[in-house]
Amino acid sequence: MDEQRAWWKEAVVYQIYPKSFADSDGDGLGDLQGVIDRLDYVASLGVDVIWLNPVYESPQHDNGYDISDYRAIHEAYGTMEDWEELLEEVHARDMKLIMDLVVNHTSTDHEWFQRSRRDEDGYREYYIWREGEEPPNNWTSGFGGSAWASDDEAGAQYLHLFDETQADLNWDSEAVREDVYEMMNWWLEQGIDGFRMDVINMVSKPEGLPDGDPDNDWVGIEQFTNGPDAVEYLSEMAEATYDDYDAMTVGECVNVDPETASDYVSAEGPMDMLFHFEHMSVDHDGQWLSPSEWDLTDLKAVVSKWQTDLDGWNSLYLTNHDQPRIVSRFGDDGEYRRESAKLLGTLLFTLSGTPYVYQGQELGMTNYPWSSLDELDDLQSIGKVEAAIESGEIDGFEDVEQAVRDKSRDNARTPMQWDDSDHAGFTDGEPWLPVNPNYEDINVAAAEADPDSVLHYYRDLVALRGDHEVLVYGAYNLLLPDHESVWAYRMEAEDDAVLVALNVDDTETTVTLDGADRTGALLCSNYDPPSDTGPALTLRPYEARVYQLEEA
Ligand code: GLC
Repeated sequence: MDEQRAWWKEAVVYQIYPKSFADSDGDGLGDLQGVIDRLDYVASLGVDVIWLNPVYESPQHDNGYDISDYRAIHEAYGTMEDWEELLEEVHARDMKLIMDLVVNHTSTDHEWFQRSRRDEDGYREYYIWREGEEPPNNWTSGFGGSAWASDDEAGAQYLHLFDETQADLNWDSEAVREDVYEMMNWWLEQGIDGFRMDVINMVSKPEGLPDGDPDNDWVGIEQFTNGPDAVEYLSEMAEATYDDYDAMTVGECVNVDPETASDYVSAEGPMDMLFHFEHMSVDHDGQWLSPSEWDLTDLKAVVSKWQTDLDGWNSLYLTNHDQPRIVSRFGDDGEYRRESAKLLGTLLFTLSGTPYVYQGQELGMTNYPWSSLDELDDLQSIGKVEAAIESGEIDGFEDVEQAVRDKSRDNARTPMQWDDSDHAGFTDGEPWLPVNPNYEDINVAAAEADPDSVLHYYRDLVALRGDHEVLVYGAYNLLLPDHESVWAYRMEAEDDAVLVALNVDDTETTVTLDGADRTGALLCSNYDPPSDTGPALTLRPYEARVYQLEEA
């Protein structure tokens, strides 16, 4: 068993996307008081940490990932006093709060950028500027189109790896790094418990900004991720800031495998854990708009590789504010919605690492039936579709309707479904994004009242994990790697072992699991307990079972 214990290894994190969580003042946008109103609900899940998506001052082109003032709260979300109240209320419930740290880029409204474009007081070097008419290289933005924009005032072009209102900071500037660290320390002094660090392995760009491989969906990705000084800068950051606190850190890292990830999260690395994307890529090959069929064997292989090969601590997530709803993606959001949502939850809570639950996941919320581009808000979805229309790749939205339904980030961002009243109890006003039409059936109030709901099952999973250390620190051992519908593994510690068997399919399947002696207790299942014992295991559609094994 892992000898290095830490509170954040044993924690369960709940992610709140404030714009869509709860609206307290009827303007159709969620806010901090809305979050405070719902904290008892969050605490009732048994989670330990809340990760709050960005609530800072921002023009909101990318829902707060475009920050114009790091030390102020965006007006629609409330005030600094509201935020202080939130922190106090979170702590009063024995939970912790981690904040989103977005320092690869700022909004072009940020004072630093304003000064930079005017070449004032040494601020030019804060961003990445190049002279000339043509883009300096072929890099594209993650939201489509060139990664370069011309600025008339500066008479130069600046790099933006996301929207053109999100200018990349120049981390090679010591002044930038110092200002960022000072801001981070200011937040740590407010009493926060850590950071989720946005696209953090993109901060170091290679000298000369060389062209990227044009065949990549995101051109330049191999250049601007894991750059030459990424680990050094982040280590410097850790030392200058959170290393002095009992804080947890999780960095969002694009384009990492267990080997490259270890540089960031091994014992010497600058962060506690990271979010990688490898398991989020099994149903498309980089081409977001042309999804492909996915195979369970691929998903198993990726997750298993991270369980066994990473030198460091894993973070476990199946969805977040940038991903589709997991039950629609890897489960069945029709007939077996409930069973498959529970099965995916079982997976999340029985692997080694820190599990992250995204708001609504605990209800089995589903993707939204988008039918036109006008309904969408997400820059990425709109940008990608518009770029594809412009380049002649597609004629219009109709050509990619299914891809958008399957993949748009807005699937995760539709309002949280609290009850069956108007707008699912999210707001008294007009919600900023439509509420999923299934809210009358899928909502917190209905789930609370139903003992068989996904919600109650999630609570049981949180408790199960708390009771069985082997699920947190144990070693993962995959059984039947090539089975196309059953995912079975043992979690093993010196004196304890647990068997997890998941039938990721809508047909009944029988398997024989060698070395998994099921004489121990059934710890958890999403069906009524089965009566079978013996070496053969018959799993009903989307059935999940967790057994205590007698001996490892
Ligand atoms: C991250 C965020 C995403 C945002 C992007 C740019 O991927 O999770 O929501 O759009 O970075 O900041």
